[in-house]
Amino acid sequence: MYQWLDDRLSIGRLYAKAFRKAFPVHHSFFLGEITLFSFITLVLTGIFLTLNYEPSIRPVAGPLSDGKEVPAAYYSILYIDSLPFGAVLRSLHHWAAHIMIAAAFLHMLRIHLTGAYKNPRELNWMIGVFLLVFSILAAFTGYALPYDNYAFTATKIGYEIGAAAPWVGRLMSDILFAGELSLTNTQTIPRLYSIHVLWLPLALMGLIGAHLAIMIKQKHTQPRYAEKVAPGKIVGVPLFPQQAVMMGVLFLIYLAVATFIAGAFIAHPVQAFGPPTVATPAVKPDWYFMWIFGILQMIPATWRFEFLGATFGPQFWGGILVPTLIILGALAIPFLDYAKDKRRYLELPSQHPFRTSFVIGMLMFYLMTTLAGYKVDLQLTIGTLWMLVLAVPFLTGLAAYIILKAVYGKEWNQEAEGKQIGKGSAADD
Ligand code: HEM
Repeated sequence: MYQWLDDRLSIGRLYAKAFRKAFPVHHSFFLGEITLFSFITLVLTGIFLTLNYEPSIRPVAGPLSDGKEVPAAYYSILYIDSLPFGAVLRSLHHWAAHIMIAAAFLHMLRIHLTGAYKNPRELNWMIGVFLLVFSILAAFTGYALPYDNYAFTATKIGYEIGAAAPWVGRLMSDILFAGELSLTNTQTIPRLYSIHVLWLPLALMGLIGAHLAIMIKQKHTQPRYAEKVAPGKIVGVPLFPQQAVMMGVLFLIYLAVATFIAGAFIAHPVQAFGPPTVATPAVKPDWYFMWIFGILQMIPATWRFEFLGATFGPQFWGGILVPTLIILGALAIPFLDYAKDKRRYLELPSQHPFRTSFVIGMLMFYLMTTLAGYKVDLQLTIGTLWMLVLAVPFLTGLAAYIILKAVYGKEWNQEAEGKQIGKGSAADD
């Protein structure tokens, strides 16, 4: 049988070429894989959901809504929850989305802290930034679909932010939401549904495919131990069978943990908010949007002016300008920290004090803007929030820089003197 297949498909050559690729073994490399497992889990649970979900707001009544008329999308969620394991599978879909965004973010941090974005991996870093942005957009469009009062209110906030982009905002929002978002617009849910189940997953699949193909072509960066074990060589286990078995086991552990979380914390029962009404409940976004919500709380309503027929108001400053600048900044990182030589080895965060303290400062910025999202609950003033958001990231970044210099400074000097020069260390930057 093997011979028959080999004659026709040259699987022996394929195995020798592709399946023997060496994968470095390092725990931090599993973060990209956890992101991938989450995406696979989302697609599989998503298929189950689409088979039972109705993307429509036509009124329906039935035993699950106690005979009351509710939108069909809302009713179909009650139906999914009533199926055997339905609520757990829906909950797994919800939690896998959280895990995917968190794992992609941590994966990005590991790439940043170890300088793995440098020449030749700039393009893969940029693809990664789009992967993170598209994953967050997929979560946003998914939130709208249960069409309860929470979903409707959260979607309305997103619609208003999109519409605040100067000149093109209203048109863009009208295309994405199929017209103005309202309780009577029957086209919005089908439009968001097609974006959520077709366009964004296709874009993610294409980008993930390109991301992994580039990673295989360029080979992984090597953890530092490889430098000592076999300098200049790729050190790792073959893709097949060793790495594949490890990934299989990790996927099973992932599924066990995620299913446990999904079962223990059933996500978002729609009955808690009921179908959408004109009265809007007080809603808070999820953690990955909370920082934008926080920035919006910091901008006074008076920060508004007109220019060439467009309005530049708080939603533009907080909801569009700041996130766009952060995305552009993230895309530019490999070019701001440019390396002439191609990078083979991971760099140590301790040896790059500016980069490491910058990451710590950005994490504090995220935490402080997230805290600003609780402005009303914590009774904080706009002045206090501005002080926290500007001062805390700067001071913690500075403190991290000083500490790194005090603890590792001697080591850098030794390297600079050429006592332990190694490729990828601070000495050859
Ligand atoms: C859906 C999201 C993503 C998936 C599924 C994914 C998947 C992966 C996998 C499986 C690897 C190889 C293992 C590893 O190095 O961890 C990898 C490597 C890489 N990823 Fe991602 N990733 C995603 C998002 C990102 C993001 C947000 C960034 C950065 C902005 C990024 C940048 C990179 C780079 C530069 C490499 C090569 C690292 C090296 O050679 O050491 N990825 N990705």
